[in-house]
Amino acid sequence: MEHPAVEIDMGRNVDVGRIVQEAQSAIAAVSDLDALARLRNSLLGKGSALGMARSSLGKMAEDARRSLGAAIEGARKEIEQSVDQQRKVIEEKARILRIEADRLDLTEWTEAVASQRGHLQLVQRTRDELEDVFVGMGFDVVEGPEVETDWYNFEALNIPPAHPARGMWDTFYLRLGDPETVLLRTHTSPTQIHVMESGELPIYAVMPGRCYRRDTPDSRHLPAFHQIEGLVVDEGISFANLAGTIEDFTGAYFGSGMHSRLRPSYFPFTEPSAEFEVTCAICRGEGCRTCSHTGWIELGGCGMVHPAVFEAVGIDTERWSGFAFGFGIDRCAQMRYQIPDMRVLQENDYRWMRQI
Ligand code: DAH
Repeated sequence: MEHPAVEIDMGRNVDVGRIVQEAQSAIAAVSDLDALARLRNSLLGKGSALGMARSSLGKMAEDARRSLGAAIEGARKEIEQSVDQQRKVIEEKARILRIEADRLDLTEWTEAVASQRGHLQLVQRTRDELEDVFVGMGFDVVEGPEVETDWYNFEALNIPPAHPARGMWDTFYLRLGDPETVLLRTHTSPTQIHVMESGELPIYAVMPGRCYRRDTPDSRHLPAFHQIEGLVVDEGISFANLAGTIEDFTGAYFGSGMHSRLRPSYFPFTEPSAEFEVTCAICRGEGCRTCSHTGWIELGGCGMVHPAVFEAVGIDTERWSGFAFGFGIDRCAQMRYQIPDMRVLQENDYRWMRQI
């Protein structure tokens, strides 16, 4: 816009164009809102060049007054516009600074933390893996209570009161009901009884869970530990089915080249009974200190379900037969991951757990 130079009474030429130009460069140099407000007052207020020019209008001739008045008004509008524009620029800069300050660099966080992401505890993972293997072999997974009565934990399993075999399981009893009638299960075998009692046959089930014994913790024993029980009841089930199932499981869980063998043993709830051993995972059967140079490591017990157990749950032994097995999940994890001392499984030492 062209601005006329106007003569005013102070004997100076008012160069409105220059006033506007100087005002605009001053405005553009301001970077905060308070300073901008102050500058605006000094550019447009009474004491400003424009203000003074405006005060002189009254004394001017009509023509000159009109053209100077219009020029002053035009200049005022331009300066106001520049101030508004600059205000927006300052506000936008402040907004960007605020956003920058609030920004969370999630990329950096993810990269730093991803490598330390948590995982399931080793016993839980082992239990999940065992369940997967058995489910793949056609078994159902069933859970039973950790608090049991003497009947489920012992009597129904052909272990009557005062039977010497009770010494195999040092028991925690609860102060509930008659003395020594309610207890923390010492093995998962009582879940077999619950499953058979439910009456549905045939049965192909595994039963994992926590068990308790009054054992002093050492490198191979924990007073609270985990077992997985297996039970098959069907027509025509033989010892060969038991041996084949254990062998299939060993290969599926521990990997090819790993085998199983059965050795005669005794459990009150099976007849005949056996202990099953699997190829030593450390020496792969060559013989080493861990397996006492036999090449085999004992994992659990098994056998054909004792007729007295079938009788306790009312299953007809003329028609049905079955086998059962049970072994420690913690022991299994110990073997598979070669953990020298089982107690680390319960100590929750983060330095140890994160390596697994
Ligand atoms: N319940 C036995 C224990 O805790 C393990 C066991 C042995 C379970 C033989 C079985 C079995 O089902 O047939 O020592």
